[in-house]
Amino acid sequence: MKYIIAIIKPHKLEEVKKALEGADVNLMTVSNVVGQGRQKGRTEIYRGAKESSGLLKKVKLEIGVNEEFVEQTIEAITKAAYTGEIGDGKIFVLDLQDVVRVGTGERGGKAIN
Ligand SMILES: Nc1ncnc2c1ncn2[C@@H]1O[C@H](COP(=O)(O)OP(=O)(O)OP(=O)(O)O)[C@@H](O)[C@H]1O
Ligand SMILES: [Mg+2]
Repeated sequence: MKYIIAIIKPHKLEEVKKALEGADVNLMTVSNVVGQGRQKGRTEIYRGAKESSGLLKKVKLEIGVNEEFVEQTIEAITKAAYTGEIGDGKIFVLDLQDVVRVGTGERGGKAIN
């Protein structure tokens, strides 16, 4: 199992969510975050709302998936989040050790979906 963390432009959220659902990836956590990439927020100033600290508003998606869904998840996010401008985001793929569904006590692959 993998835990996929994607940082995207806020205005791309609905498109990315639709693309994920189209790839049969329906379970996700979404947060509003601020961040900076290699431009340190500077050259995106006219494209995104800027916080006083210099950080730009972004949306973070967190998605736990079975191995067979990893590539289609990455592909869906990459295609839907792309604008061609700087700051389109980044996807981090982490090994996911275990999942526990609180309501049933199920673990791992039984709990992830
Ligand atoms: N190495 C990193 N660690 C943690 N968060 C990161 C890292 N790189 C990027 N991010 C997050 O991703 C967001 C978007 O990054 P961004 O797309 O600007 O990456 P970049 O490397 O600067 O590429 P680009 O040149 O296309 O802008 C950042 O605002 C930050 O929240
Ligand atoms: Mg950047």
